Amino acid sequence: MIDRLVEAFPRAEWVVTAPGRVNLLGEHVDYNDGLVLPTAIDRYVLIAFSARDDGLVHIRSLDLNQSACFPINALVAKQDGDGKDLPHWALYPAGVAWSLKKEGFNPAGMDAMIHSNVPIGAGLSSSAAVELAFAAAWQKMGDWKIDRMRLAQCCQRAENAYVGVQCGLMDQFACAHGVARHALFFDTRSLSWQPIPIPPGTSIVIADSTIERSLAASAYNQRREECQLALKYVQEIVPDVRSLRDLSVKDIMTLKGKMPKTIYHRMRHVVEEIERVRQGCQRLFSDDVAGFGRLMNAGHVSLRDLFAVSIPELDTLVEIGQNMPGCFGARMTGAGFGGCTVNLVETRAAKAFAQQLRAEYRKRTDVDASVYICKASRGVHVEPIQ
Ligand code: GLA
Repeated sequence: MIDRLVEAFPRAEWVVTAPGRVNLLGEHVDYNDGLVLPTAIDRYVLIAFSARDDGLVHIRSLDLNQSACFPINALVAKQDGDGKDLPHWALYPAGVAWSLKKEGFNPAGMDAMIHSNVPIGAGLSSSAAVELAFAAAWQKMGDWKIDRMRLAQCCQRAENAYVGVQCGLMDQFACAHGVARHALFFDTRSLSWQPIPIPPGTSIVIADSTIERSLAASAYNQRREECQLALKYVQEIVPDVRSLRDLSVKDIMTLKGKMPKTIYHRMRHVVEEIERVRQGCQRLFSDDVAGFGRLMNAGHVSLRDLFAVSIPELDTLVEIGQNMPGCFGARMTGAGFGGCTVNLVETRAAKAFAQQLRAEYRKRTDVDASVYICKASRGVHVEPIQ
């Protein structure tokens, strides 16, 4: 991939590599102060770049065959130098520059070329990867001392306040902190985190349903509101609860009937999913992959029945995966309403698994899934081009 970029942009001085992510456990809990367990994957957004001294940011996307340009000192309008609205994809880098400025940094003009093999809109965080790639590029050019967590938070703010998607911190965190061969146990309240080795002999297989996540943004925001509402009901009874994170599985039994059923279901998913992450980490530490896989399976049932973010195609992919030889566990991953499933599979069975999953999905739905056998990978980094 780097060769192709350099060929297209021979003057570039640096290249940033920013990975996508897949979440193994802990879905829809990062905006409830919860615990998550994502991993950065070996699918990347690459940016080749060099500095400009006229305050303009010129970006070309190799894959979309489009360009965009914005002045670094006039970001609020979300327009290019001629007063035309920026294309949607350019809002991510412009938002990062805007957010860095809010933090007191002074991002410079640049020429940049993007090339990516993270599928867009599939729930593997291509947008977080683009954000972190640009943040790391600006950091390199300015030689700023800024830690990875702050960089991730800057990118999250870009997405929340500039692009307008109310995401949590998980995706930006994973892209910034990825560790090869490890999952990342992340506490979204304390911001503490720990890499946990992926058990040897297991592979992460991602299956993209290729169903576009059409309702994703509105339904995602709606789920966030439902969680807020659940919290309000809880606070009327127990005022010192700060977030759904503070409730135990036992607590929620006593809250049944104290709020509308749908809201109760959303809350129950969040509380039990956080507990699954706790238990999942213990399983990984004790090399109990089968136990971990059962938690993934239970997570899917909860996302489907309680949180209601799955779709029939994802349920089909999960069911096919779970019943195939060598599979420890399978669930939908990411925000839902389309996108991907994640499967934990014995490495020696992974190739056959990928082929059969594709064939069986096609047979049942007449749709071609894209299936990737992935490696847990290093987080965003910048290298000079030789
Ligand atoms: C999206 C968001 C994340 C997280 C997941 C669901 O990927 O960007 O912050 O909420 O959905 O777990």
